[in-house]
Order: sequence, then C-alpha cells, then structure tokens
Amino acid sequence: MFKGLTRLQLQMVALTSLLVLAGSVWLARSESSASGASQCRCFPGDACWPSTSTWNTLNNTVGGRLIKTVPIGAVCHDTFPGVSYNAKKCADVQGNWARPELHDETTHSPMAAFFANMSCDPFTPRSAPCVIGSYVQYAVKASCDSDYRATINFATKYNIRLVIRNTGHDYMGKSTGAGAIALWTHGIKDTTIKDYKSSYYTGKAIKLGAGVQANEAQEAANAKGYVVVEGDCPTVGIAGGYTQGGGTSPLGSKFGLAADQVLEWEVVTGAGTVLTATPTQNTDLYWALAGGGGGTYGAVLSMTVRMYKNMATAGVTLSYLESSDAYWQILQVFLTNLPAVLKSGAVLYWQLLPGNFFYMPQAYLPGGTAKDLVKLLQPTLDALNAKKIPYSLTSKDFPTFQDSFKTLNPEMNITEFNLGGSLIPRSLVATNKSVTALVAGLKSVTDNGGILAGVSMDVSKTPPVPNAAHPAWRDSLFLAFLGTVYDRSNLTANVVAQQAVSNVLDPSLDKLTPNPAAYLNEANFKRANWQSAFYGTNYAKLVSIKKKYDPNAIFWGPTVVGSEAWAPAADGKLCKTGVTV
Ligand SMILES: Cc1cc2nc3c(=O)[nH]c(=O)nc-3n(C[C@H](O)[C@H](O)[C@H](O)COP(=O)(O)OP(=O)(O)OC[C@H]3O[C@@H](n4cnc5c(N)ncnc54)[C@H](O)[C@@H]3O)c2cc1C
Ligand SMILES: *[C@@H]1O[C@H](CO)[C@@H](O)[C@H](O)[C@H]1NC(C)=O
Ligand SMILES: *[C@@H]1O[C@H](CO)[C@@H](O)[C@H](O)[C@H]1NC(C)=O
Ligand SMILES: *[C@@H]1O[C@H](CO)[C@@H](O)[C@H](O)[C@H]1NC(C)=O
Ligand SMILES: *[C@@H]1O[C@H](CO)[C@@H](O)[C@H](O)[C@H]1NC(C)=O
Ligand SMILES: *[C@@H]1O[C@H](CO)[C@@H](O)[C@H](O)[C@H]1NC(C)=O
Repeated sequence: MFKGLTRLQLQMVALTSLLVLAGSVWLARSESSASGASQCRCFPGDACWPSTSTWNTLNNTVGGRLIKTVPIGAVCHDTFPGVSYNAKKCADVQGNWARPELHDETTHSPMAAFFANMSCDPFTPRSAPCVIGSYVQYAVKASCDSDYRATINFATKYNIRLVIRNTGHDYMGKSTGAGAIALWTHGIKDTTIKDYKSSYYTGKAIKLGAGVQANEAQEAANAKGYVVVEGDCPTVGIAGGYTQGGGTSPLGSKFGLAADQVLEWEVVTGAGTVLTATPTQNTDLYWALAGGGGGTYGAVLSMTVRMYKNMATAGVTLSYLESSDAYWQILQVFLTNLPAVLKSGAVLYWQLLPGNFFYMPQAYLPGGTAKDLVKLLQPTLDALNAKKIPYSLTSKDFPTFQDSFKTLNPEMNITEFNLGGSLIPRSLVATNKSVTALVAGLKSVTDNGGILAGVSMDVSKTPPVPNAAHPAWRDSLFLAFLGTVYDRSNLTANVVAQQAVSNVLDPSLDKLTPNPAAYLNEANFKRANWQSAFYGTNYAKLVSIKKKYDPNAIFWGPTVVGSEAWAPAADGKLCKTGVTV
C-alpha cells in the first residue's frame, strides 16, 4: 500500500509515533476464556486430539494432500524438530519477508505477522523458541469439492478449529489459528471464459477457481481482450477474502465493487453440502457471500464474474512536499474536488506521509485520456500554482488497463502495519465546514504519528443485483487506510500501537460521522462495535444466513459474522464465550 518509501524511513516515523502516543495507551487485556473442555475446540495436547493414525486416515481420504506445518521461520532456529538452522535459507526468508509470494506459497504463514505471535519468528535469535504455536497445525491442499467436504467433516467430527486459507493476505487474523486445520485453497487455479446467459446478465464472464490470484485472473481476461475487477495487489486471492469482503479496485469507479461483479458461487456449506448460489438460486447465500465477509458462510470452490472489454487507460502520479499550513489547504481543495474526479470514472490512490508529503502514486482513468485526468485534477494544480508550491506531476496514456496498472504499480509488498481505518462519506466534503473538519481529522491522524492512504473510488451506482457489501460504500468518498509501522522485533510494541489505533487514530475520523463504517478487510481488528462498522444494517440478516448454512459454526475468525460466540483463550484455544448470536 505504501510505495516509494523504504521500511527504514517508515520505521523512523513509527518510533516517533510511539513516543507521541506513549502516554495514552495501555496493554490489551487478555481474551476471555471459557471453562470446561467441551466448551472449547479440541487443542493439541488435549486427550481428544486425533491420533497420528486418525490424521493418516484423513490423509488417505484427501489423496495424500494433508500437510503438517513446518513453520517458515524454522530454518532460522535450532529448536524445531527435524529442521536444522540454515544461515542461507534463513537470510532468504528474512530478505523476502516483505514479498507476498514468500507467504502465499506456504500452508500457514499469515502476512500480518502479529497473528503468528512470534511462534517461530525469523527475526528472533537462533536460540529462540520455534513452535507451531499460532500457526495452523495441518493444512489440506484442496483440489476439489471432495477435499473440502472431507476437511469440513473431519473438523466437525473431531471438534477441531477450521480455517479457510487462500493466500494469507488477511489483515484481521482470519486465515490462521492456533490448533487449527486449514482448508488450503491456493492450488485451485482453473479459469474458464464463458459466454454467460441468464435472466440477470448476458455477456462475457470468467469462472475463477478458489485459488486464482488477481494477476492470474487479469491475465486470462486480457488474453481475450477483456478485464476483470481486481484490487491493487496482484497476489490477493480474487475469489477468496477479496471479493467476499467487498473489494476495492482501480476499476471501481467504472464498474463497482468486486462483490458487484459476481454472477455465481460454487460453495461447500458448513454442513458439507455442495451448492450453487446465484441471484436466482440459494439467493440468500449468494447475497451474503458477495460482500458479507470471507470464511463465514461456506467454503467457495469457484466464482463466476462479469468481464468487460479492455480499454485504453490514463495514468497520473502527483506529489508535493510543503511544510507550511498551505499543505492542508491544498488537501482541502483536493478533497472538495474529489467527488467530481471520481464521478468521471477515475480511481485515486493517495497517501499522507510524514513530513507533510502528499504522494499519489496511482491515479487511473479507465477509458479516458491523460489529458482528461489532468484536467480533472486542475483545481488542485491551480491551488498549488497559486501558492507557488512545487509539485511533481506525470501523466501517460496506456493502450490497456493492465499496461497502466503494471507501470504505476510495479511491485506491491505486504503492508506491515498496525492497521486502522474507515470509510469517509462524500457528505463530509459537501460544505466548507465539514471538509474543514475532515482535514483537521486527517491532520490529527498524521500529528499522532499515523500514516494514511486514501483509496478513493465512486461505487455509488446501485449494483445490478443486491449484495451484502456494507451499504456505506455507496456513499463513500474514500477508504481511509491508516496505521503505524509494524515492529518486527517487539510484539508488545505492536499491542501498544494497536491500542493507539483504537484510542487515538481511528477516533480522529470516527468522530466526524454519526455511524462510522469501516472496510471489513482493511481496518482495526480490535475495533469496538465492529458489527455495525463492518456490516452496517446487514448484520442481523447475515447472522441468520450464517446460522442456516453453517449450523455447527465450523467457520470462525476474528470479526466474522457470528464470531461473538467464540473467542481464543490466552494460549489460542478457541472456546465458547457464552454469548448467543
Ligand atoms: C498488500 C495487500 C494489498 C491489498 N490490496 C487490496 C485492494 O486493493 N483491495 C481490496 O479490497 N483489498 C485489498 N487487500 C485486502 C484483501 O482483499 C484481504 O486481505 C482479503 O481477505 C484477502 O483474501 P485472500 O483470500 O487472498 O486471503 P486469505 O488471508 O487467505 O483469506 C482471507 C479471508 O477469506 C477467507 N477465504 C479465503 N478463501 C476462501 C474461500 N474459498 N471460501 C471462503 N472463504 C475464503 C479466509 O477464511 C479469510 O477469512 C490487500 C491486502 C494486502 C495484504
Ligand atoms: C500424507 O500422505 C502423503 C503421501 O503419502 C505424505 O507424503 C505426507 O507426508 C502425509 N501427510 C502427513 C501429515 O502425514
Ligand atoms: C519489497 O520488499 C523487498 C524485499 O524486502 C524489497 O527488496 C523491495 O525494495 C520492496 N519493494 C518496495 C516497492 O517496497
Ligand atoms: C472555508 O474554510 C476555510 C478554513 O476555515 C476558510 O479559510 C475559507 O475562507 C472558507 N471558504 C469559504 C468559501 O467559505
Ligand atoms: C517493547 O515495547 C514495549 C512497549 O512499547 C516496551 O515497553 C519495551 O521496552 C520494548 N522492549 C524492547 C526489548 O525494546
Ligand atoms: C503467544 O506467545 C506467548 C509467548 O510465547 C504464549 O504464552 C501465548 O500462549 C501465545 N498465544 C497464542 C495465542 O498462541
């Protein structure tokens, strides 16, 4: 999310931010724990934990594709049974830690390292403990629906915590879990282009297996002269948490959210039943899966989405540095002008970086020209000129969308952040008074050591078929993605920093709106009132759909619909809370 700055630069900012915030935070209290073994999922070491021969039986059922976790950091330690320290391999793991590919090829490593709890951390000393700990214990490398059913049935029968893992991009801790078995979907890579015909859509479509990543989907579509709605990160799993969670995109202002594109889901429910969900068949499940969050209602085998004819796309970048208050006045002009820019189909990714540095590495106008896009930004450029603030502007016309994307976004690393953020409604730029308050809120985020990115798109158009994406998206001007840099060496420092997100950074923006909304994939996993923030008025309906398709509550993750009924104890064991949802 933050390009053009080194980790070191960001780290310096993080240190400053911790100093600023040190006075206003306290340690997280430990999660509640339930008593009584039957109140909990069976945990390694418990008498109920399946024997090796029972695991072998599962392995036979899934064609030998059961994998016992060997933590990615084991080569950096002497302490994991069967793995020796290896200086070169360890240096590779450390050196590539920021690369999504390092993690998405594994059965277990979450990109948000906080959720690995330093169980086997490559950056701790060689002699430090290396255990499976917070990683999943086993993964089934699924290839088809029978692997899904076998995994779900096994987890249900033996009362084992189940996690659906695709790429491990999740920021909220949903794709890992202590004592869990992972249904690992990454290997399901088939793509099929279709001439789709139904009562709700006739045209080109693409069927994507659960493990297809954004770049793979885009390449398949491009080869035929089409595009699919994808996010800003080429390695995110398109049919997994991304589309199921809503999905922002450089094509968003033109075509809507990723969830708006879905024609059909193939899914295995929590009861192990294979179903097809479309706008006319299992319609409640269709609705919930499109925007109601990943890892909740069922395990998706494939999704079929709309494709669009590829188009010439304009790309613009803009940056300026200004230490005086004029910086914020320019931002006010930029924000006031933003609704008009987005309405024309543009999507802008911009950042407020330390030292009053405004950086917009990616601005797209699909179907438009560079000249059009610069013209849309003219009020901001005029304001910069009037104040004689130097800026850097580049603009270019690209023959296809993908050409623009690859040029403006050549390398996307994982975001090592203590994350927060929310959806900023368009109404906040409607009056001078409200936009002034918005700018003050953004300034407060950066004054308190936060770094902020704005993902701005206009997805106000009513989707062709209703879905469960948070209704606040339709009124939103941008997604404020904010936080402080993750400390790789000190877990407590991250706990403290996450509290600062909850107590200082998120409230700077939340106080501007009566019912703050946030993006369930990109926000503070410790957010209070996450039910309304992430799901809005859809929450109660989503709970009832969850209960219908996952009667044994086999799918669980932090902040997923219905997750209040369970919570991890201090050791990670998942136990009932006594809360009824
Ligand atoms: C560097 C980076 C950039 C990002 N950029 C964007 C962006 O531009 N736009 C955007 O909207 N989001 C973006 N995200 C957020 C991303 O959409 C979420 O992290 C999303 O959850 C990832 O989905 P996944 O399936 O790849 O990951 P995973 O972590 O494997 O899974 C995420 C969630 O989906 C569930 N899930 C996965 N597969 C299935 C399945 N087959 N059936 C049911 N549930 C499933 C998991 O259980 C988990 O709850 C970005 C994240 C990162 C780390
Ligand atoms: C599952 O079986 C395969 C093939 O026999 C084997 O290679 C693998 O190690 C087994 N997995 C486990 C966890 O025992
Ligand atoms: C991404 O991470 C790699 C490995 O840490 C690093 O070499 C590279 O500079 C990073 N790229 C960007 C754009 O931050
Ligand atoms: C808008 O608000 C700013 C900051 O309070 C003020 O300087 C400016 O004059 C106002 N503009 C208008 C048009 O009212
Ligand atoms: C880790 O961070 C905590 C909280 O900021 C701090 O109190 C502690 O001293 C840090 N530990 C180390 C070894 O730096
Ligand atoms: C996290 O690690 C600590 C320290 O090793 C351990 O006590 C705790 O049980 C772990 N928590 C989880 C959820 O694994």
